[in-house]
Amino acid sequence: MKAIVWTKYGPPDVLQNREVPKPSPKENEVLIKVHTATVTAGDCELRRFDIPLGMWLFVRIMMGIRKPRIKILGQELAGEIVSAGKKVTKFKKGDPVFAATEMRLGAYAEYACLPGNRAMAIKPSNMTYEEAATIPTGGLNALHFLRKGAIRSGQRILILGAGGSIGTYAVQIAKSYGAHVTCVDSRNKLDMLLTIGSDQVIDYTKEDFTKNGEIYDLIIDVVGKSSFSRNVRSLSKNGHYILGNPKLKWKIKGAWISLTTRKKIISALASYRHEDLIILKELIEAGKIKSVIDRKYPLEKTAEAHSYVETGQKIGNVIISIGSKN
Ligand SMILES: NC(=O)c1ccc[n+]([C@@H]2O[C@H](COP(=O)([O-])OP(=O)(O)OC[C@H]3O[C@@H](n4cnc5c(N)ncnc54)[C@H](OP(=O)(O)O)[C@@H]3O)[C@@H](O)[C@H]2O)c1
Repeated sequence: MKAIVWTKYGPPDVLQNREVPKPSPKENEVLIKVHTATVTAGDCELRRFDIPLGMWLFVRIMMGIRKPRIKILGQELAGEIVSAGKKVTKFKKGDPVFAATEMRLGAYAEYACLPGNRAMAIKPSNMTYEEAATIPTGGLNALHFLRKGAIRSGQRILILGAGGSIGTYAVQIAKSYGAHVTCVDSRNKLDMLLTIGSDQVIDYTKEDFTKNGEIYDLIIDVVGKSSFSRNVRSLSKNGHYILGNPKLKWKIKGAWISLTTRKKIISALASYRHEDLIILKELIEAGKIKSVIDRKYPLEKTAEAHSYVETGQKIGNVIISIGSKN
């Protein structure tokens, strides 16, 4: 089968087009004909091994010390089940599914094997494969961050990095809870953010939101590049600040603030669950969430797609089309 092989840690050209053996599913796995994968910021960070200090060693051991042990990147996909192992109960041949590949990765290929009991679900009936492939990383992380922030109707929420994979889902899920949502990102993302329901948008290159006198019940920060202490000051007395991309020193400062004040600073790491994909699927089928797609690339141009994602210009999601069905 055709696949994009991750030959070493480094720039996009370490991703090479190769022919590799088609995988065979174990008894608890399904074999998926992949129609769509995506390129997320997380894929690019893994490829060049730009991992926060607190996680560096753990992830390096998982991925391979000298060079990637796992040969195919791609953390989410949508496609059709070609065969199912005999211990798989939830899925059968022909099912249209979307899934997170988690630490086994493998979406940049014509076929992938995944366990039938993990973060996989039947594709929402009102989405194409292209749209559905963008749900797992963005949707599951957004849902997790909002839950950790004890989201409730009427709350004022601020999302830092709202125009990317996680942010675009966080905005829409927060709106489905009845929150007032302010989005912070760069200029070229703001019109899109208004079309998906943001109440207010702020261009971080022009305005520092911590200086406008507004207070938020929940701040979700998927970026981790602005001032930690000023962000904490913009929280309400019982506010929650969710660190989706935390530096080690922010985790330590956050733990102290959580201990000594009523503010809660939480480093969030999502676990990917089938049940949460079902919640997202239901929100999508109820018309409350849609996916935001920017550019599309064929499988053989995956390295080019990685270069584009690294420019920071990406609006929502970048997808990789594999085969003709989308
Ligand atoms: N905690 C977890 O479990 C978890 C899971 C998955 C991913 N992550 C991490 O979360 C991060 C974000 O993921 P993503 O996929 O949503 O990334 P993404 O699609 O690249 O989105 C990030 C957005 O943030 C914007 N941005 C950059 N600097 C900013 C700033 N100072 N203020 C406001 N917005 C800013 C970017 O726009 P511009 O470039 O135009 O500025 C971009 O639109 C990644 O680093 C990823 O590794 C964490």
